[in-house]
Amino acid sequence: MSNEKIIVNSWNEWDPLKHVIVGKADGTCIPAPEPALDAKVPEDSDMRGEILEATMSYRCRWFEYLCYRPLLKKYYNSDPNMRHESAPKPRLTDADYRKDYLSDKIGIQKRLEWTEKKYFVTTEEEPLFDAADVLRFGKDLVVQHGFTTNLKGIDWLKRHYKDHRVHAVNFPGDPYPIHIDATFTPIKEGLIINNPQRRLPKEQRKLFENNGWEIVDSAQPAHNEPPPLCYSSTWLSMNVLVLDSKTVCVEKSEIYQAEQLDKLGMEVLPIELRDAYAFGGGLHCCTADVYREGELKDYFPKQ
Ligand code: NVA
Repeated sequence: MSNEKIIVNSWNEWDPLKHVIVGKADGTCIPAPEPALDAKVPEDSDMRGEILEATMSYRCRWFEYLCYRPLLKKYYNSDPNMRHESAPKPRLTDADYRKDYLSDKIGIQKRLEWTEKKYFVTTEEEPLFDAADVLRFGKDLVVQHGFTTNLKGIDWLKRHYKDHRVHAVNFPGDPYPIHIDATFTPIKEGLIINNPQRRLPKEQRKLFENNGWEIVDSAQPAHNEPPPLCYSSTWLSMNVLVLDSKTVCVEKSEIYQAEQLDKLGMEVLPIELRDAYAFGGGLHCCTADVYREGELKDYFPKQ
């Protein structure tokens, strides 16, 4: 790659992927306890020419942006149109978190009620967002409001991406709404798979349905529980990496997800990654687009 000309450009989740950052687990460690503990990659989000460093909402990830800096420097030097942006680093004081929200004493029923009411572990003290709560659909950005992204974070994105339309979504069936990419996964233009335990509420489906997009229930995971030390649920089954609108990488053991995507007309590439789940998630979590061929499009003209 060293002599190759690098261009930073990626408008959506499915155009032909030509350059991607793949995370590696060197130097990782188990984070110390904190009020909203969880840990995942990636932390950056990119649009044409711009890579934006997310605020992040866990203390253990506050310095994570430094790991990306050598790569971003390289892209900046190579691509004269690249803009390197950084959202304001949050203070992450105790005021950012609801005390004892994650206590074991709180049952699953109560948690589901809280998600329904949009009452999350993070407060509205300051803008917070993780890149993995954001999905890019050309002119539209779909952002999960949950533990890792608050309304102030979504508002910050709206003000920053003035030429885009930013939509807040939430998924009431998820007791721990952390990152959108095991819940709602665009596969290609017009097709999304949605976690059947975390369906997008009727009102929020309109944007997709009115513009001819199909939202189908994803297949069941192949496993009954996540591997040891993994911070995520078994729904990493749907944490796939789309290479182009005909080709998708699926974790090798996720045979039901692979079968469903095959039936939906995709060529499925099985990739063994389950042993790496403990280091931050699945195929989508561990990767960050740098260049996808394709231009900015409006997939939702009917707003
Ligand atoms: N929080 C999600 C994983 C997101 C990659 C889950 O555990 O299902």
